[in-house]
Amino acid sequence: MSDKKKLFIRTYGCQMNVYDSERMAEALGADGYEQTDTPDDADMILLNTCHIREKAAEKVYSELGRFKGLKAEKPDLKIGVAGCVAQAEGEEIMRRQPMVDLVVGPQTYHRLPSMMEQVAKGEKALDTDFPEEDKFEHLPKLRGTKAKRNPTAFLTVQEGCDKFCAFCVVPYTRGAEVSRPAERILREARDLVERGVREITLLGQNVNAYHGAGPDGDWSLAKLIWALDGIDGLERIRFTTSHPNDMTDDLIEAHGTCAKLMPYLHLPVQSGSDKILKRMNRSHTAESYLRLIERIREARPDILISGDFIVGFPEEDDQDFEDTMSLIREVNYGQAFSFKYSTRPGTPAAERALVDDAVATERLYRLQALITEQQRAIQNSMVGQEVGILFEKKGRLEGQMVGKSDHLHAVHVQCDAAVGDLRRVRITDSGPNSLAGELID
Ligand code: SAH
Ligand code: SF4
Ligand code: F3S
Repeated sequence: MSDKKKLFIRTYGCQMNVYDSERMAEALGADGYEQTDTPDDADMILLNTCHIREKAAEKVYSELGRFKGLKAEKPDLKIGVAGCVAQAEGEEIMRRQPMVDLVVGPQTYHRLPSMMEQVAKGEKALDTDFPEEDKFEHLPKLRGTKAKRNPTAFLTVQEGCDKFCAFCVVPYTRGAEVSRPAERILREARDLVERGVREITLLGQNVNAYHGAGPDGDWSLAKLIWALDGIDGLERIRFTTSHPNDMTDDLIEAHGTCAKLMPYLHLPVQSGSDKILKRMNRSHTAESYLRLIERIREARPDILISGDFIVGFPEEDDQDFEDTMSLIREVNYGQAFSFKYSTRPGTPAAERALVDDAVATERLYRLQALITEQQRAIQNSMVGQEVGILFEKKGRLEGQMVGKSDHLHAVHVQCDAAVGDLRRVRITDSGPNSLAGELID
């Protein structure tokens, strides 16, 4: 048995938190911790939290409550809270939950090793600064080791947001928009590819607003994608999440011409009513969004469009909601996430009168039914088509492998392909949550 201390991380929220958790594990790995997949044998528990909706934020407190018994049994157990709730409510967490030893925000986790020294001495550690230094440059270079890993990886290229949608906490929890220098991203991508990664998803709260320093001035996201396209062994590129106002011409063109850029675009619109979009401070209209989708589809006709919707935003009336439903009918989504509006303290919309909860719930059901119908129809239309599949793991059945298609559909195939193989597959069947297919060769 290893005498290394054990670290258990639980991740909530978006893909950026998934990336951060991996980096935090590396930072603590250099400090003598190895990861475990159960809290029961952990020496350190870290919750990487999300503040986007009230329910997400409350989960932290109930989850901490559950660790109380564990801490009573094992007084040496250290408990930390990271991520967006840590950033927004760090001091309150320390006050409400005295068993928490450490609170670290999304921009300071490179300081975890020194915070852990404090904790080891029995002190509490709290750091929710927005520091001057680039945290990525202060994280261990463990990503450069040759340890094999999954064929897919996330790579954060941009963080924070300057858009201040009236409902959203992200500009407060993640801070201002910052883009990482292009060469550092390329270096990290090459490291990942050397370790067996074949698909990279570039991440940012506003990933298409990327404008990192390049060797010849600022690079756009499209320019970065073209540089990644040149890395041998990297087969697929994706990016998320994009804002409609940052869908530049070069990025739309890349969707038509860059073979490694996958035909999938997550482009949230939130509402189809111009009145509501204005009150949300979205700075685009329903019409401008629809025209944008049209241009993207001209460049890449088979692209699968994904979106996010908020229903029951303050002052949304029946007509506003019907406008959202019409927009959805016009776009035809292959995937979408939808939420009932949740009041977030400190955001401009928090002051406004709420829509009746039963009305909002009914709208959410109707919207989700429409999205499900579209999603299923698009999935069913894949039957008979030939697609690329990157195999990620074994399936539940004997001899079955599971991977993702170019359009990000999960596909089951009875075959002897290995994890990391990219193969041509013909889709033979469409189920509720996944497709089935057979190898072509
Ligand atoms: N940067 C992305 C989304 C970030 S948050 C964008 O600009 O679209 C992910 C999604 O959570 C948002 O798209 C929105 O649909 C939802 N969301 C954010 N704040 C919310 C709130 N207060 N209530 C309900 N849903 C919210
Ligand atoms: Fe939030 Fe709007 Fe920024 Fe997206 S663009 S992260 S929804 S403020
Ligand atoms: Fe949640 Fe923070 Fe991501 S609030 S959605 S974890 S940026």
